Amino acid sequence: MTGEAKKAFIIAVAGKGGTGKTIITSLVLKLLTEQGRGRVLAIDADPATSLPSALGVRIQKTIGDVREEIASPSQVFFSETMPTDMLIEYTLDEILVHTPRFSLLAMGRSEGPGCYCLINDMLRHFIDKLSARFSTVLIDCEAGLEHLSRRTTRDVDTLLVVSDPTKRGIETARAIKILAEKLQINVRQIYLVVNKVTEDEDVQNALPGLIADSGLTLIGVVPEDEQIRAYDLVGKPIIELPDDSKAVIAVKEIFGKLYKIRLCREELI
Ligand SMILES: Nc1ncnc2c1ncn2[C@@H]1O[C@H](COP(=O)(O)OP(=O)(O)OP(=O)(O)O)[C@@H](O)[C@H]1O
Ligand SMILES: [Mg+2]
Repeated sequence: MTGEAKKAFIIAVAGKGGTGKTIITSLVLKLLTEQGRGRVLAIDADPATSLPSALGVRIQKTIGDVREEIASPSQVFFSETMPTDMLIEYTLDEILVHTPRFSLLAMGRSEGPGCYCLINDMLRHFIDKLSARFSTVLIDCEAGLEHLSRRTTRDVDTLLVVSDPTKRGIETARAIKILAEKLQINVRQIYLVVNKVTEDEDVQNALPGLIADSGLTLIGVVPEDEQIRAYDLVGKPIIELPDDSKAVIAVKEIFGKLYKIRLCREELI
């Protein structure tokens, strides 16, 4: 390596709505923190802001809230005395939630047409600055393709595209891959994760065809796990799933492959 500052390893989790992005993000975070891979910044980039509860964390403010505060008339005094970028940095530092295991930043909702552009510009700029303070940045993306088309997720080391074993989930996964290539987003590697896979014969029979249709490289399959349902039913943090949960075991395998690939790449650089 040259004298360059070490950059965080950025993992983004995308896919069709409801396929399990937030669950997979939470389990990857669980493993990252348990395996002592350095400090992790988790970013909830979904306006629905469901990652905090999956991680058992309460957030006070989102980036969307900050945007509104900055735009509000009461901030005029500050914006006249403090440069906007300094104001944004100061406020964002205030909304970062720190736990002993990781830090969390939630993007939140914005109001009004086209407002996301400003938030995303802010997020982009400050992710870059913030990430230097972390070993890994893990992003739970919003459903669908908007995120990619607005190019919030760029300079990603690994994009995990989650699908359930359905034709529509896989079609969205394929569309995400095509869009990422078309937009020339700087994604080093894209992998498919098929989640919520059951032992049903028809699912097992259809799986190879679905995987092939995605046009993506499969990194792993995560089974339908009744413990996840039970945790979600009562709002228990997913990050607290036991190590013998079927989904945790499967994500551990995916995680192992990811880091093996990463080490091989680093050796090649
Ligand atoms: N492996 C699994 N086993 C059982 N249930 C699962 C599994 N993965 C996800 N689920 C369930 O599927 C639902 C959707 O999961 P999740 O919220 O992670 O999806 P998402 O892609 O983040 O959704 P959204 O697009 O709304 O953000 C949840 O009810 C969750 O409990
Ligand atoms: Mg989600």
